[in-house]
Amino acid sequence: MTSRADCEALDAADPLRALADRFAPGDPGTLYFDANSIGAMPKDVPARIDALLKEWRNLRRRGWSESNWLDAPRRLGAKLAPILGASPDEIVVGDTTSINLFKTLAAALSLRPSRSRIVSQAGTFPTDLYVVQGLKTLRPELELHLVPDGAAVEAAIDDRTAVVYLSQVDYRSARRLDIKGLTAAAHAKGALTVWDLSHGAGAVPADLDASGADFAVGCGYKYLCGGPGSPAYAFIARRRQEAVKPALAGWMGHANPFTFSTDYAPGPGMARFVVGTPSVIANAIMEGACDIWAEVDPAQVFAKHAALGDLLISLTKGILELGSPADASERGGFVALRHAAGAAVVGALADAGVVCSFRPPDSIRFGLSALYHRYVDMWEVAERLCRIAHDETWKDAKYQKTKTI
Ligand SMILES: Cc1ncc(COP(=O)(O)O)c(C=O)c1O
Repeated sequence: MTSRADCEALDAADPLRALADRFAPGDPGTLYFDANSIGAMPKDVPARIDALLKEWRNLRRRGWSESNWLDAPRRLGAKLAPILGASPDEIVVGDTTSINLFKTLAAALSLRPSRSRIVSQAGTFPTDLYVVQGLKTLRPELELHLVPDGAAVEAAIDDRTAVVYLSQVDYRSARRLDIKGLTAAAHAKGALTVWDLSHGAGAVPADLDASGADFAVGCGYKYLCGGPGSPAYAFIARRRQEAVKPALAGWMGHANPFTFSTDYAPGPGMARFVVGTPSVIANAIMEGACDIWAEVDPAQVFAKHAALGDLLISLTKGILELGSPADASERGGFVALRHAAGAAVVGALADAGVVCSFRPPDSIRFGLSALYHRYVDMWEVAERLCRIAHDETWKDAKYQKTKTI
């Protein structure tokens, strides 16, 4: 049985332990397990906002030419590239994940003009499916073929398939798909891949280049700690970039935006995936996190993340049923435990100083971050959960209407 002292020893030996000091602490005594929803705030964010506000006050329109506001989509993308296994010129930061899903899916479809089938998973995050439904208003011939689970994807790919369009990690169970294997299966049939990395990036490897992935997107605000509503990111493999003619073409993705030409000409490489004016304030906040990502060793992050999850699973065994794969190589960023009254348990945990999240029907999600979680946090949360389960605190009437957002 792992003791608190064992966990403290793991923390003492953790090569990443100093990184936790780069993040602002939350309420004292509260443990935050919601990196699957919103990651912690880097400590230097207030100073970054102050510096930006000063630029706004003093530079005003000269900020566009005298500061680095316009470069942010590519600069931040380059800083995120190592943790995604991409090259610096393959990522741009900007827009939302939903918008980037539209951009990448439309691009992938345009590279396979004679095919109209999109293969995806029925339980994938709804926005991913809504984007296809929206695209169908422009291309009614599109056919969305949904399979029940990851195991059924490969058999569903055929020579009518234009795009295999998947989430790397299931948002309810954290089950992780094999980007490399499924991309190879898609390529074998002449199809392309679009991956939504939202529940994996910053926690588990995506290895985009090594996997041969074509397109990918993901949220900036989860494990990547980019802040509430932070910009998302998009990836196009370098070998595909020059062939992409963006469907959502905007002036900031033009080869020469300030010539104000009537005709769109895509900018070089990923520059074409920038659409409009960058969100300068949101980018300034997100850069605090990107600077940390640019420094860390991805292999250390992934190893610690897997170890934290394994520890949490072993410490909560016998308290609640595991809803995620037990094997870390099949798991994404969070660990899900199952309970029929999951929302009430999440409410009781919040009152016990544990912030986690619920997804119907029964998934209680503990989002883990290798950047700021300690091994002893796993011990602490298991203790508090054990108490709630034993005392059945969650049965209290006040928890029966817990908001599940
Ligand atoms: C897999 C996945 N994709 C996309 C999103 C959200 O996209 P957006 O940033 O456009 O709101 C989420 C949000 O939780 C998600 O889990």
